[in-house]
Amino acid sequence: MAGPRNLAALAPTIRQRVADILDGLPVGEPFNWVERVSIELTTQMLATLFDFPFEERYKLTRWSDIAISPRKAGLWDTVEERERELDECLSRMTELRDERSQKPGGHDLLSMLAHSESTRNMPPRQFLGNLLLLIVGGNDTTRNSISGGVLAMNRWPEEFEKLKADRSKIPNAVAEIIRWQTPLAFMRRTTTEDVEVGGKTIPAGERVLMWYASGNRDENVFENADLFRVDRGNARQHLSFGFGVHRCMGNRVAELQLKLLWEELLERYSRIEVVGAPVRAISNFVRGYTHLPVKLHA
Ligand code: HEM
Repeated sequence: MAGPRNLAALAPTIRQRVADILDGLPVGEPFNWVERVSIELTTQMLATLFDFPFEERYKLTRWSDIAISPRKAGLWDTVEERERELDECLSRMTELRDERSQKPGGHDLLSMLAHSESTRNMPPRQFLGNLLLLIVGGNDTTRNSISGGVLAMNRWPEEFEKLKADRSKIPNAVAEIIRWQTPLAFMRRTTTEDVEVGGKTIPAGERVLMWYASGNRDENVFENADLFRVDRGNARQHLSFGFGVHRCMGNRVAELQLKLLWEELLERYSRIEVVGAPVRAISNFVRGYTHLPVKLHA
């Protein structure tokens, strides 16, 4: 999705948006990091990727939340209600895509979908499915890596000190944050043939879960796997982006966002203090937070 050239072109916009968000935060007063930073930054990023009208950007977060939340999270009550909101997503995005199909040359995701041979005539439900994959793919995951990083740096303050002393550790710290947090706990597959794993045979046709959350804490691969270490030598071997043909398409965008965020954070604050218990999102799939109360120290 995002080749190195497209990414380099995006970097100044992302950095500016990160800076604007951080400059608007209160110093010395508690606030919810998830809402003010994690959600805001990923929402702005998604709007940038889709070239979605900036003032309507919160719709993207809403559609993502609706698509992924179970009923008991309280965002929707009946299946019809949920469908109605997702239909709104489909109609707004179809409108925008149809406009873009008249204008060649756009580099945003909707223009790409409008002009590519393989996607321009997708039936509506398939178009919606692809949109939701992109919206959800780019939303909860990065959001929760942003929150998870702050939490990890608080549990292991010496790791934050290491970053302060040497900013060249940031890219590796980003990989370690994504390993430690594992924003998506698993993906599902169906076996196409008998396979042997750990001395057990899984027959063909079985539905299996690949627990990234478990693989990322495998002591045979990661020494002291439960600990967060910004200079962990093999942090990049994590499985948080999946593996194989369906490996995450947005991994570089996500890493770039996190790298720029930590650079700009270190520029401004001596400490990002977690001042209350984090509240976990209700999901066995998305490993994340709805609240993370923090206080910034200048
Ligand atoms: C830290 C952030 C992220 C994490 C942990 C993450 C994780 C994942 C995982 C586990 C998969 C499934 C891989 C598989 O089934 O083998 C995936 C797929 C995908 N991700 Fe991400 N993702 C992140 C950020 C993003 C971003 C920013 C975008 C786009 C804006 C994105 C778009 C996608 C898409 C479109 C797919 C489907 C790929 C396919 O099925 O071929 N992701 N991601």
